Amino acid sequence: MTDPIRFLMCSPNHYEVDYVINPWMEGNIHKSSHDRAVEQWHKLHYILKDRALVDLVDPQPGWPDMVFTANAGLVLGKNVVLSRFLHKERQGEEPYFKQWFEQQGYTVYELPKDLPFEGAGDALLDREGRWLWAGYGFRSELDSHPYLAKWLDIEVVSLRLTDERFYHLDTCFCPLAGGYLLYYPPAFDSYSNRLIEMRVTPEKRIAIEEADAVNFACNAVNIDHVVVMNKASDNLKARLTEAGFEIVETPLMEFMKAGGAAKCLTLRVTEPVRTEIHANQPVESRVIRMDGHLLDAGIISRALDLIVENGGSFQILNFNLGEQRQSTSSAEVKVSTPSHEQMEEIMTQLIDLGAVAPPQEVCDINLEAVTQDGVAPDDFYVTTIYPTEVRVNCQWVKVQNQRMDGAIVVFHTSEEPIAQCKLLRDLKVGDRVITGVEGIRTVRKAESREQRNAQEFSFMGSGVSSERRVELVVEQIAWELRQLRDRGGRVVVTAGPVVIHTGGSQHLARLIREGYVQGLLGGNAIAVHDIEQSMMGTSLGVDMKRGVPVRGGHRHHLKVINTIRRCGSIAAAVEQGVLTKGVMYECVKNNVPFALAGSIRDDGPLPDTEMDLIKAQADYAKLLEGTDMILMLSTMLHSIGVGNMTPAGVKMVCVDINPSVVTKLSDRGSIESIGVVTDVGLFLSLLVQQLDKLTGPYRKSA
Ligand code: ARG
Repeated sequence: MTDPIRFLMCSPNHYEVDYVINPWMEGNIHKSSHDRAVEQWHKLHYILKDRALVDLVDPQPGWPDMVFTANAGLVLGKNVVLSRFLHKERQGEEPYFKQWFEQQGYTVYELPKDLPFEGAGDALLDREGRWLWAGYGFRSELDSHPYLAKWLDIEVVSLRLTDERFYHLDTCFCPLAGGYLLYYPPAFDSYSNRLIEMRVTPEKRIAIEEADAVNFACNAVNIDHVVVMNKASDNLKARLTEAGFEIVETPLMEFMKAGGAAKCLTLRVTEPVRTEIHANQPVESRVIRMDGHLLDAGIISRALDLIVENGGSFQILNFNLGEQRQSTSSAEVKVSTPSHEQMEEIMTQLIDLGAVAPPQEVCDINLEAVTQDGVAPDDFYVTTIYPTEVRVNCQWVKVQNQRMDGAIVVFHTSEEPIAQCKLLRDLKVGDRVITGVEGIRTVRKAESREQRNAQEFSFMGSGVSSERRVELVVEQIAWELRQLRDRGGRVVVTAGPVVIHTGGSQHLARLIREGYVQGLLGGNAIAVHDIEQSMMGTSLGVDMKRGVPVRGGHRHHLKVINTIRRCGSIAAAVEQGVLTKGVMYECVKNNVPFALAGSIRDDGPLPDTEMDLIKAQADYAKLLEGTDMILMLSTMLHSIGVGNMTPAGVKMVCVDINPSVVTKLSDRGSIESIGVVTDVGLFLSLLVQQLDKLTGPYRKSA
């Protein structure tokens, strides 16, 4: 004979809605009727007493939520993990519950201070005793789950709650006898839903609708085939009946005003242990360290947000706040996730924010050898635009050739270890590639607030300017271009054919002639249309002076392609006096190198257009070496290509009439890129005007 089922309840003598700690309590302060609450509680008590034993704990004045005994702790066998309430409004209940458990002969486990866990409100045993479902996200911390696993020696499946109305697991999740599960899927994130679906077969999952969920249908007490709840729709009743359950409804409206119903008002204190079941808790934890302007640059909030958004939880172990304006802060944060994959995902993003494992902890990165040319090991670390350092022999080694979307290869030369970014296609068998995320950090410039403000660029930082701001931005860019030219800096332009169509060609030609541009990147089209305009006065057949299509103009671009092909190259056309002006002409005349990358839609192409894309990428990369600033003028395709090859720290100006293109290009998460939404021809003409102003005689500004 099995032991009788026992519940713990607490009579509602002192029950009241006195404060707001969940959304249900909002607007309900002092709105519950004492008499009705007492009556409803007694009905529930009566129903349960009929089917099980009910113990009582003495209610205490001043602790109105003590009626919700589900939150006393979590019982398994003779062990109980006592709750640590998140809100001070309920913390005073803890000693009374502890006393009751001790008097009954339970072994009471207590979690570390400041590690919230709200008992059986957030931890529900599979009714077959196979594992423990544990919730986190609102009241209980994920970090409490490994303690449950250890102390109760049971596997814990962590589920993340995401809807604040369903702040405790038992408000939206109810394991039933026979392996059935009554639950409200939208209350969980998709990862948790996947976990549930992996454990409970479709026939056993009874997913309820919102209307039932807000009636606390999941907050049910299950005793064998009986399910006691506040209320169920006909549809839900039918489904439960079909699954062999008998539903007992009992109104609990007065308690719902505090955010609880049947299940919350009870705690099952007899939970048999299955001796063959043991702990196996996948929760992973790591400590990271962050340094810098964590607060005023918003880094710490971004870091914590991304941890939570990706299903993890955190604990700030220490935070040294830089007190002066210039001083930096540092923080150590413990990150926990319910699975290894989530940890890797979160760590990758944290590394991008500059986080690092405390140096004393990791001495070496993980390396795995390449076994097939051009293919990295599965778990390879994907590089970003940020300067990166990796841990080799307990030392930080700077990664060379930084660019995004590569792998990091580590060589051990006789003197020093070398780390290098490599593209997948350049990997060779035997190369040792970094895998995982351990021992990697990205280095953010921790410049002081003053420095940051002194940089002309940063005030426009990563914003997208349109209309009114364009002139202001152009003024800044002109200033920057002039500075770069004077100190021998390097500016590369990537341009699309729109530059020519919008009348920007003469301006771009001038920038090249006057030494503001050190390299030009584009495709076949920019060169074709520039040459068409220089030789025939049209761009794609449109007369550039009158703005109207010219008769037979659509053939113009093919004519010029043919002409250049006859000459042999653009440079040869210039030498032979065939090409006498325009952007390409100025490049040749002023020894400004250019690279034209081909594409599937190219006509011709021009002899200079590189149709081997791998070679074209290499040509681009070569011209980009040592670049200080890139002007991206109305070409999404080539600009994205360029962006991928460029490490952080290079200033980027993206100009396009289409805001979404600008956002896409300037959204590299680096402060050095700015976007300008405007007509590119107009932009270039303003830019040239501004440069003229800087070159002209000094005039006091009005
Ligand atoms: N007012 C209580 C609170 O917010 C309600 C607790 C309901 N209990 C539960 N197991 N869901 O803490």
